[in-house]
Amino acid sequence: MLHAALILSFIFMLPACERSKLNEAKWKEAGAEAVLPLKKSLKQALVTGLADGPVAAVSACRLEAPKLAEAQSTGGVKVGRASQKLRNPSNAAKLWMQPFLEIYEKDPERREPGIVVIDEETVGYVEPIFMQPLCVSCHGAELTPDLQAKLGELYPDDQATGYAAGDFRGIFWAELPR
Ligand code: HEC
Repeated sequence: MLHAALILSFIFMLPACERSKLNEAKWKEAGAEAVLPLKKSLKQALVTGLADGPVAAVSACRLEAPKLAEAQSTGGVKVGRASQKLRNPSNAAKLWMQPFLEIYEKDPERREPGIVVIDEETVGYVEPIFMQPLCVSCHGAELTPDLQAKLGELYPDDQATGYAAGDFRGIFWAELPR
């Protein structure tokens, strides 16, 4: 209750023009555009990697994924991935992303892209990521012993298993300059 009151008072503290100025559709479009190259290049790296089997693909992903996110963060825009159950701890959600993760996790009806004003200079964009059949070999409930060993070695605190196709897995996010 106290929480809700605090959040409300915070929202109403923003000047009215501040709220109405933000064109939601425009920012959602900009966000979707910003994350698209990362989505494409990750998918490409995954498909290429999987040609040599999931164990080799995990090693490739470990090296490639952080580089791809960095490479696609240009012109003041930052992009990346985050999750409520992490494989790589450096993908941890920043504070502004956490409410989205909570809502997406709780409510399948609200798994739509969203935006939020982070500060004077930045708008945040998020979109949910869902498990596809392709993802199950590395994030599913039953992993092969050699894959399990490799993941245990690279990601000792791996929480990103036990998923089925269609499950909510995490988010793509972008920080966009205003
Ligand atoms: C070859 C094994 C493999 C497959 C297949 C795979 N992933 Fe991953 N996934 C990984 C690895 C390894 C990481 C950690 C990458 C890193 O170190 O940044 C990861 C990280 C992620 C993350 C970032 C959050 C976190 O937990 O660190 C998301 C989101 C994700 N995967 C979703 C998916 C989705 C959706 C699919 C299917 C399209 C998929 N993965 C397929 C191995 C895989």
